[in-house]
Amino acid sequence: MVKICCLGAGYVGGPTMAVIALKCPDIQVVVVDITKSRIDAWNSDTLPIYEPGLDDVVKQCRGKNLFFSTDIEKHVSEADIIFVSVNTPTKTRGLGAGKAADLTYWESAARMIADVAKSDKIVVEKSTVPVKTAEAIEKILTHNSNGINFQILSNPEFLAEGTAIKDLFNPDRVLIGGRETPEGQKAVQTLKAVYAHWVPEDQILTTNLWSAELSKLAANAFLAQRISSVNAMSALCEATGANVSEVSYAVGKDSRIGPKFLNASVGFGGSCFQKDILNLVYICECNGLPEVANYWKQVIKINDYQKSRFVNRVVSSMFNTVANKKIAVLGFAFKKDTGDTRETPAIDVCKGLLGDKAKISIYDPQVTEDQIQRDLAMNKFDWDHPVHLQPMSPTTTKQVSVTWDAYEATKDAHGICILTEWDEFKTLDYKKIYDSMQKPAFVFDGRNVVDSEKLREIGFIVYSIGKPLDAWLKDMPAVA
Ligand code: NAD
Ligand code: UDX
Repeated sequence: MVKICCLGAGYVGGPTMAVIALKCPDIQVVVVDITKSRIDAWNSDTLPIYEPGLDDVVKQCRGKNLFFSTDIEKHVSEADIIFVSVNTPTKTRGLGAGKAADLTYWESAARMIADVAKSDKIVVEKSTVPVKTAEAIEKILTHNSNGINFQILSNPEFLAEGTAIKDLFNPDRVLIGGRETPEGQKAVQTLKAVYAHWVPEDQILTTNLWSAELSKLAANAFLAQRISSVNAMSALCEATGANVSEVSYAVGKDSRIGPKFLNASVGFGGSCFQKDILNLVYICECNGLPEVANYWKQVIKINDYQKSRFVNRVVSSMFNTVANKKIAVLGFAFKKDTGDTRETPAIDVCKGLLGDKAKISIYDPQVTEDQIQRDLAMNKFDWDHPVHLQPMSPTTTKQVSVTWDAYEATKDAHGICILTEWDEFKTLDYKKIYDSMQKPAFVFDGRNVVDSEKLREIGFIVYSIGKPLDAWLKDMPAVA
């Protein structure tokens, strides 16, 4: 029986390995992590992450050919294939701080593998890493190898949260990069055989190591660029009376462009886009390509602009002050169908409103108060370091309250900001909400999920990203 061990039981390691176990009953899969609370949760009825369909997959294989453990060294030494799916956050200090990927966790994983390995291993980069990382990892492994042969493969993951199981069951492609030596190609074929249990062979792409590593950064940069492009257009739509939904529909009808990923929003979030683009920018700078670096940097700048533009719109519409006003925030996760809040635009929007002394009442169907208070107290880029998975004493902000009920969050509020596109926000009883709010009552829809015309009929003043402005909003222009 082939044995797989995966280092890192997070949003990627957990679902990916659960699907491999489900699709490959002849393979034993053990997922290990340094964070005991995460492993305990994977072994319990309440999994550490919310992902539609995940519970079902885990239940079908856990205890059969899928295991979660903290006994890292034992399972690494027994494995034939080791996936490394640990954090690769943005560096917070030192050379490249605020841009470069912090490979501390990756390097310590590689050193540990070299220390405990007693037989040949295929080591798979599952984490998103800077291009050429495999070269560094190879050096670490071979300098400490005791005669053991290590083959490094790059197998970046393309799943999106909220649809991870669907994406893993039916990926657009699986990408495997390896050394162009006979041993390297043999390792590529071994990993390909794992995916071939359920992925059609023509969708399993094989490339050299550097192409695979760079393709992951490139794919995220292209995806994020689409959102920044449509968000840039949304600002122009508001200034001119064009409607961004109509513009993106018309643009996306061009088969060369395509309709997906063109939804204007309060800004993109999530653990990947910003981190990976900053990493790409840093790599370009290090390779003497400042023009290329500046091109991609602009994607992040527009995203930051979009978030601050939204805050400015809220404040300016409400007579230029939100001090002591109650603002209800509906949705805190970075997108629907996940409880993940890493780099969610809600953090920057809430911090902006808090900076203007608003009182915020937050409701998200999947995010706990502890998580929200922690996110609002944390410094930029600190969130992706495993230490923050450990329980810590909460620093609560008194200006922020968190509830499990949208009606309670909006009661007595002056305004509502919709920051995640949860389906349930479309069907709330907005008449009931309006009646319980201070007047004039505002809705700032950062995801274009509500029917703005219906809300206007009720009496709300409504702002929708990139849509023609109410007379009220036109009279109170936001200063960008
Ligand atoms: P995560 O924080 O959810 O999980 C990482 C896990 O690794 C944590 O549980 C941490 O405790 C563990 N870990 C850290 N060092 C370890 C070590 N030495 N040994 C064992 N475990 C260790 O992160 P994630 O979202 O799963 O992302 C992991 C990687 O995958 C990152 O490089 C990320 O960029 C990439 N990625 C993420 C996504 C996504 O949607 N989240 C998608 C594609 C790629
Ligand atoms: C992304 C990539 O899609 C995935 O391939 C990669 O493996 C990891 O990074 P993820 O961050 O989980 O996945 O979610 P995604 O669906 O890409 O959304 C990212 C952010 O962009 C969210 O905040 C989302 O709301 C926003 N978004 C997405 C928009 O604002 N508009 C869109 O049209 C699409």
